[in-house]
Amino acid sequence: TLQCMYRTAVITLSDSASKGEREDISGKVICEIAEKSGCQVTFTKVIPDDEQTLSELLCTLCDEDRVDLILTTGGTGFSERDHTPEATLKVIERNANGISEAMRYRSLQVTPRGMLSRGVSGIRKKTLIINLPGSPKAVRECLEYVIDPVMHGLDILK
Ligand code: MTE
Repeated sequence: TLQCMYRTAVITLSDSASKGEREDISGKVICEIAEKSGCQVTFTKVIPDDEQTLSELLCTLCDEDRVDLILTTGGTGFSERDHTPEATLKVIERNANGISEAMRYRSLQVTPRGMLSRGVSGIRKKTLIINLPGSPKAVRECLEYVIDPVMHGLDILK
């Protein structure tokens, strides 16, 4: 099938990876799956688990029409430093949480701990934002499950 190359940003939330103490494997897994599915990864960044840093970056990418899709990884759990859903909820204008519900449905088939990812999805202007969990394994399980319908959603959004 012929698909448009949607411009995609991959943002990794990790205190340790942002300091260079750990390699960003989840970000790489996202790039691999996204590019296989007709996305063009045009922006990647590893940032600390800081709510304001993320919400400002999301706004810039959406408001300057820099990308069509933003995939975040990490910071969706219950630890005190997990702020990704809050930063995302602050900036989205329209909820698209069916995507996150589908990912939790898929995750629960793998582990009951799938219910612990608080990730959300939504739209700001013409950009779709999706929170993925942090581990490379979870990223693969979740993104592979939703990516095809997400491409169809982007066709409609654009
Ligand atoms: N989802 C899938 N598909 N596979 C997993 O292994 N791990 C869970 C959950 N979602 C998991 C998953 C666990 S253990 C946690 S704590 C949450 O994602 C949150 O992860 P994060 O804080 O790294 O974002």
